[in-house]
Amino acid sequence: MEDSDAALIKKIENLKKSRNVIFLVHNYQLGEVQDIADLIGDSLELSQKAAKTNADVIVFCGVQFMAETASILCPDKIVLLPDLHAGCPMADMITAERLQEKKKEHPGARVVCYVNSSAEVKAESDVCCTSANAVRIVEKLTDAEEIIFVPDQYLGNYVSSQTGREMILWPGFCPTHTRIRVQDITRLKAEYPQAKVVVHPECRPEVTTLADEVMSTGGMIKFARETDAEEVIVGTEIGILYRLRKENPGKKFIPVSEQAICPRMKLITLDTILWSLENMAHQVKVPEEIRLRAKAAVDKMLEG
Ligand code: 13P
Ligand code: SF4
Repeated sequence: MEDSDAALIKKIENLKKSRNVIFLVHNYQLGEVQDIADLIGDSLELSQKAAKTNADVIVFCGVQFMAETASILCPDKIVLLPDLHAGCPMADMITAERLQEKKKEHPGARVVCYVNSSAEVKAESDVCCTSANAVRIVEKLTDAEEIIFVPDQYLGNYVSSQTGREMILWPGFCPTHTRIRVQDITRLKAEYPQAKVVVHPECRPEVTTLADEVMSTGGMIKFARETDAEEVIVGTEIGILYRLRKENPGKKFIPVSEQAICPRMKLITLDTILWSLENMAHQVKVPEEIRLRAKAAVDKMLEG
């Protein structure tokens, strides 16, 4: 670690104590950010933690929709996102207005929205889901005539394949996960014949059908801990490799693609975190009327 990093961390730790701060950190964050986490996890684990924390200030080291979800659940807390440009391109592929139009075309349909969406889109939805619980959430909608699934067509497609439910899919996608390609997995499987292949359900269907396991990032962390396999080929954003390697020093983790980087996730650095705490910015707050409707969809998901 560079001296400057140690000095930065000391300043961050001092401000953290004096302001009663919790650092919630997503599995794709830079290693130095993962190292200062109070909780590191996937979208579901982080929202569950946000819902229960006693801290006064939540610093969200992730992207906008994650900070918004924390604010939806904890309106009385200050939620800080250290860089306002840390958005999710997939979440931006749908708007509340366009979803309203789709709902008019299918008046009997229920709307399931992936947590990678704005508060406004959540407010137009019946229930939220993450990649960790999407299959279970859709399975529970037994009485729904039709289901509109937004905004990730690939997660939606995967959920359909697991539940046998046909759904109306929104054509959104994650530009990072579309970099995970079949030919790279095939090449790596030939190179590491004993390895298990785990991929995120945001990958294209031809990729998920090739994999041994399709999991949220939290699922991958658990799988890596429990598997007997000594080599694991990992098809998701490469930030997760830092944690996988740190927690499992005896195992080998091979990324499907070194190009599977989410640039917005990497905007959160020790420097931006310190700036954020010094300036108590950027505060993420959802207008109350939208928050209440969005919260109904998030609560429905968290009910289990
Ligand atoms: P997880 O909920 O699996 O951590 O995924 C979040 C995400 O943005 C994946 O691209
Ligand atoms: Fe959004 Fe993809 Fe980045 Fe996840 S990896 S935050 S889905 S752009």
